[in-house]
Amino acid sequence: MQLRLPEMGCGTWAWGNRLLWDYQVEMDDALKAVFDFCVSQGITLFDTGDSYGTGKLSGQSEKLLGQFNAAYEGDYKEQICLATKLAPYPWRLTQGSMVSAGRSSAQRLGQLDLVQMHWTTANYFPWQEGPLLDGLAELCDLGIAKGVGLSNYGPKRLRWAHKRLVALGIKVQTLQVQYSLLSTYPVDELNLKVVCDELDIRLIAYSPLALGLLTGKYTDKSDLPGGLRKLALGQILPGVTPLLSCLKAVAEGRNKTMAQVALNWCICKGTIPIPGAKNLQQAKQNAGALGWSLNEGEIAELEAAAAACDKKMVQNIFQSR
Ligand SMILES: NC(=O)c1ccc[n+]([C@@H]2O[C@H](COP(=O)([O-])OP(=O)(O)OC[C@H]3O[C@@H](n4cnc5c(N)ncnc54)[C@H](OP(=O)(O)O)[C@@H]3O)[C@@H](O)[C@H]2O)c1
Repeated sequence: MQLRLPEMGCGTWAWGNRLLWDYQVEMDDALKAVFDFCVSQGITLFDTGDSYGTGKLSGQSEKLLGQFNAAYEGDYKEQICLATKLAPYPWRLTQGSMVSAGRSSAQRLGQLDLVQMHWTTANYFPWQEGPLLDGLAELCDLGIAKGVGLSNYGPKRLRWAHKRLVALGIKVQTLQVQYSLLSTYPVDELNLKVVCDELDIRLIAYSPLALGLLTGKYTDKSDLPGGLRKLALGQILPGVTPLLSCLKAVAEGRNKTMAQVALNWCICKGTIPIPGAKNLQQAKQNAGALGWSLNEGEIAELEAAAAACDKKMVQNIFQSR
């Protein structure tokens, strides 16, 4: 079966985390507005994970997405694609454990279009993964999921997983990796896009705004919010100033925002970016990345500016070769 994927999607990693805050109801309303707006614009791929939301909010990101989907009644409803990622936790060791995790996610979401392996265990326990991939295949065979995707795989491990799934009659539909002007390692150094094209796998770009850095809202370490972002972005600011200046210039020349240029670059590179919008204003801005294209000169300028930066985004520790 061929999943219908739009040019751009919407990430929901933030949902799980935001839900840890007290103002949950207010946030849920804001996120529902993001969902409704995105679908109405044909942005119909939503990515979440069964590990998004912890403690008593475990699975909450999937639950919310399911509720928003059930309540939506506007245009493009038929094209909505709900994607989740199942984590290969150390206690998930068997095919059955993955099937049971997928069943629970499908229940929370109400419909499961794409079930993805959240990361490969290649870097630390390679033997764990085979049965878990078989579990993803079984989820499709049982009709619980419509398609299978992978995440954080490099070309070598991708070929291995692809072969195993093809032997079970399952096509790998998508692969998501961290990809942005500040995270080109999997695609450029590992040649991942070429391998995906060869295997007919759509490449999804996660963290396409480098956690918000490429929107231009953080120029100095003192601008950064606390937590994970302070840790991840604090290490690379101000080392990315050449790129931020170039993004700003290209954006001004185009009458676009820096976020729109950063996302359009991902689309021009043949990927589907899934920016995490937290509110309607961000979602509206990100939707403005669609319907136009950077030219070759602008792309070259942006890539030269990225190459001139002495810092890049830190790679996901699970990203394999
Ligand atoms: N497969 C994996 O291992 C993996 C890992 C990470 C993420 N993902 C997926 O990728 C999705 C997106 O990645 P991400 O959330 O890590 O990074 P991202 O999309 O690069 O950045 C998201 C952040 O950017 C800010 N933002 C978004 N649009 C904006 C706009 N127009 N103007 C200003 N700020 C804007 C928001 O910041 P504020 O919070 O400040 O509003 C948001 O939290 C996730 O939701 C998840 O679905 C997958």
